[in-house]
Amino acid sequence: TLLARTRGYGKLILFGEHFVVYKVPALVGAVSMYTDCDVEFVETPGVEVIDDRPAVPNYKVKKKEEADHAIDLVLKHFNMDTEKQGLKLHFGGDLTCVSGIGASAAQVVSLSRALSLALPKAMTEDEINAAGYEGEKGYHGTPSGIDNTAATFGGVLKFQRTDGDPIFTKKKITTPIRIVYASTGMTSSTTEVVGDVKAKKEADPAWFDDLLQKYLVLVEKGEKAIDEGDMVTLGALLNENHTLCQSLTVSCKELDDLVTAAREAGAIGAKMSGTGRGGLMLALTPTEEVQDTVAAALEKLAPQVWKTTFA
Ligand code: PMV
Repeated sequence: TLLARTRGYGKLILFGEHFVVYKVPALVGAVSMYTDCDVEFVETPGVEVIDDRPAVPNYKVKKKEEADHAIDLVLKHFNMDTEKQGLKLHFGGDLTCVSGIGASAAQVVSLSRALSLALPKAMTEDEINAAGYEGEKGYHGTPSGIDNTAATFGGVLKFQRTDGDPIFTKKKITTPIRIVYASTGMTSSTTEVVGDVKAKKEADPAWFDDLLQKYLVLVEKGEKAIDEGDMVTLGALLNENHTLCQSLTVSCKELDDLVTAAREAGAIGAKMSGTGRGGLMLALTPTEEVQDTVAAALEKLAPQVWKTTFA
């Protein structure tokens, strides 16, 4: 169907949230859940948005202003004059919107795909991704572009922002990467947290550089572990990335508690994922059985728990 071609996928950052903003490589996996969008041209001028995306409580209320701005930026990118041509946008899909899953990127990519289908000229995947990036600017000032790239292309990607176009490659997955991810139930503002890290970096460049150097060693090893299908090493490295997030001050007690619980339940690695100070954590599980055990353990503490596999 047409709607299937408007999918924008959610993502989980395996390595490099926050560091990726500063033009170093990150590793990201798209989840199988997506947002889709239906565009209707209507007589009434303006934009009507019907948002049927599943979401954790308060997410949509908290993100409404940013979402409206993001949609506006995408429409501007498409040179759409909604005073002349009214639009009705209907967002849906099975991706639960929660801070950390890249729901904003999934939304603007699905909108870009839907507009591209509605317009006479078909767009390339790179053009869709670029349109999604314009929308992401509505959510925070300096998006790395990792979210919209994962939302557009799917799979597991190595991503790096540069002064020009970002560079990214799709990883070949030899061993399935089984993940449980859980929400803290808290929605944080990416703009605020990214801004805070920036302020701390400017106040103490040596502190930030030390963490960045450690991260660079980590992400290189992480890529190797993925290439070799070495889940035990991958898990240990994810744990180390969580420690770096703690040093960056972007984790919080709620995330730390979930990370500890996942490890105790048998996860071979666990870390926060995304913006932090709320949002999501993820756990790497070696088998389907452990994936279920860890999910059950997290369900006792977290309001929402999901499973996904990068294969
Ligand atoms: O919380 P999310 O899913 O929006 O991920 C944000 C990732 C950051 O690295 C913190 C910001 C960015 O633009 O990459």
